[in-house]
Amino acid sequence: MTLSELRQKYLDFFKSKGHEIIPSASLIPENDPTALFAMAGMFPLVPYLLGQPHPMGARLASSQKCIRTGDIEEVGDNRHLTFFEMLGNWSLGDYFKPEAISWSFEFMISPEWLGLNPNRLYVTVFEGDENSPRDEESIAIWQAQFEVKGIVAAVGVAGRDEPVRGNDGPRIYTYPKEKNWWGPAGQTGPCGPDTEMFYDTGKEHDQSYGPVCHPNCDCGRFIEIWNDVFMQYEKKADGSYVPLAQKNVDTGMGLERTAAMLAGVPTVFDIQDFQVIIGAIEDKAKLKYSKSVDGFDSEAEQANRSFRIIADHIRAATFIIGDQRGVVPSNVGQGYVVRRLIRRAVREGKRLGISDLFLAHVALVVIGLYGGYYSELETNRQRIVDEISKEEEKFAKTIEKGLKEFERMSREHMISGAEAFILFSTYGFPLELTQELVQEAGAELDVVSFQEEFKKHQELSRAASAGAFKGGLADHSEETTRLHTATHLLHQALRQVLGEHVAQKGSNITAERLRFDFSHGQKMTPEEIKKVEDIVNDVIKRDLPVTREEMTVDEAKAAGAIGLFEQKYGEKVSVYTVEGFSKEICGGPHVTHAGELGSFKILKEEAVSSGVRRIKANIGI
Ligand code: ALA
Repeated sequence: MTLSELRQKYLDFFKSKGHEIIPSASLIPENDPTALFAMAGMFPLVPYLLGQPHPMGARLASSQKCIRTGDIEEVGDNRHLTFFEMLGNWSLGDYFKPEAISWSFEFMISPEWLGLNPNRLYVTVFEGDENSPRDEESIAIWQAQFEVKGIVAAVGVAGRDEPVRGNDGPRIYTYPKEKNWWGPAGQTGPCGPDTEMFYDTGKEHDQSYGPVCHPNCDCGRFIEIWNDVFMQYEKKADGSYVPLAQKNVDTGMGLERTAAMLAGVPTVFDIQDFQVIIGAIEDKAKLKYSKSVDGFDSEAEQANRSFRIIADHIRAATFIIGDQRGVVPSNVGQGYVVRRLIRRAVREGKRLGISDLFLAHVALVVIGLYGGYYSELETNRQRIVDEISKEEEKFAKTIEKGLKEFERMSREHMISGAEAFILFSTYGFPLELTQELVQEAGAELDVVSFQEEFKKHQELSRAASAGAFKGGLADHSEETTRLHTATHLLHQALRQVLGEHVAQKGSNITAERLRFDFSHGQKMTPEEIKKVEDIVNDVIKRDLPVTREEMTVDEAKAAGAIGLFEQKYGEKVSVYTVEGFSKEICGGPHVTHAGELGSFKILKEEAVSSGVRRIKANIGI
């Protein structure tokens, strides 16, 4: 089954269970200062999980583009992916545990759908603690599911120290919050126990991961394919868990991993779609990918690792640059992530003996594989190719400079570990390259002192990026909501003062300010800035009401709504109206009266790129 076929099956299944299929939202969250990228299917649904009605109803399903960067340098083993698709189904106060679990089971094992072998299925549930009880409901539902299939031993429930005994032993394992709970990490908000589904690959247990193998053992025998989260609590600031009025279901199934299980292949990189991408790299490389080889030591294993990193990183870079809110390589935020992905791919290319520019060729293959479902990749084809090639060329030059620097440094003495680190951090010069050059000169590089420098630096950058990579629910604080409404007022005021050509190009909100990017050719004059401020302040003073309606995209267009039209024809959307002033398509949330903003001030107006201006502004000052 190809990824497209599996994706379609999932969506068809949930359509048959009364779900509306919603398109993937952008990878770049808007108005969410807590995350650089969408990391789960529920990210764009946060306002609806918090109780706002969704225009498409209470049963939704999607395939959402996700990026998890954690630590990019560690991606490239046999199962981690930077970009992945998360299949998900949601109940917004509609069905709950019995339906969610029995549909998950049916989709996985019914021959009409995935036809996975139920004898190889294991599930985990929350074991309970002093704040919230053991999830007895989910246990009972799973027991009934397994029993119907004649897997009677499944009525037993095991703790994590109990070894898996195949058909003679339990299928339901319990774990604490760190494994079977999903929600805002360390924050307040909706959350709840989850139940995760694992498939037994039959791989022999690796004792180095512990004496006992169990579903959450990391040895690679059990692969998690699906997670059903039951959002039934709200975590309060005092750490208590209070039952929620609206009980939601939020599920996530990893598309690529499930495809690998279905194909019976040992790694996600062996599935058909990845093999096509790897084939495109092989076209340009001196080495070949060896299918059955999976480790980190031999030459073939190292080559495989390079192929996987390039395939993963260029797939991710293609999706980020080609996103509906595409981002190009730069030194900040998401742009820095794309830059690192491309540069790492260039370095791995060198290891495979590739000397020509080759990344655009790989990106085009990615567009070919995915452009059918994610049409934005086709729309942005040129931008993807141009940006990836530009960055690749730039970095190739950086490496050349690094070589010159190496020669300069090594003229007087053989270079030290600390100097090798400067080459690595400033010139992006791979350690292996420095090592080879030093060896060619008949010496040995002091790798230990290089690594000491590296660790020091890594700790610093980890601390700096910890905030940006934090997962969990977005912080919809009151301040963010007020700034969000201010952004709408600013957008409309700019159109009135500068003209109808003004369109939103980006928006970012932190608790301290709003930032709004828009299309406009010239610097704004002080008079224009003043006029825009006056219009917004007038709306605030008149305390115009802000209301929300649901309509189809076409009705919204006919009503003159502005905003990003990402939705497909015929689909329902929310439209926010500031009475008598503006109408915009948007997911919210917003204040109910403009007066809540207090006052509005533009702090800065500047250029971001050709034809795009940026305004930073604040309220209540
Ligand atoms: N939001 C849940 C997850 O990402 C489904 O695992």
